[in-house]
Amino acid sequence: MTEDWIDVAAQADLPANDVIAVTAGAREIALYSIDGEVFATDNICTHGHARLCDGFLEGNEIECPLHQGRFDVRTGKAMCAPLTEDVRSFPVKVVDARVFVQVD
Ligand code: FES
Repeated sequence: MTEDWIDVAAQADLPANDVIAVTAGAREIALYSIDGEVFATDNICTHGHARLCDGFLEGNEIECPLHQGRFDVRTGKAMCAPLTEDVRSFPVKVVDARVFVQVD
């Protein structure tokens, strides 16, 4: 399977210690800026149809706005109930102040 790096945002457009939604091809991605590092996961929660970009970022965890499930945004790992499934995370790189996400 071929994987491509997709330019999704200017680093300057990422609010510090917050989350925004971007698109990478047909996929909607949540992009997190945490202490100068950037992470990416699918934007839709694995429990229901809620957008993680509307949740609350606290430390390394995003809290889903619908039922308050939390994922570690660095790995996508589901951290608590009601989540039973990790959210997919994606590799990120920053080149010349642009943020690239690697998706299928
Ligand atoms: Fe995200 Fe239920 S939809 S925790």
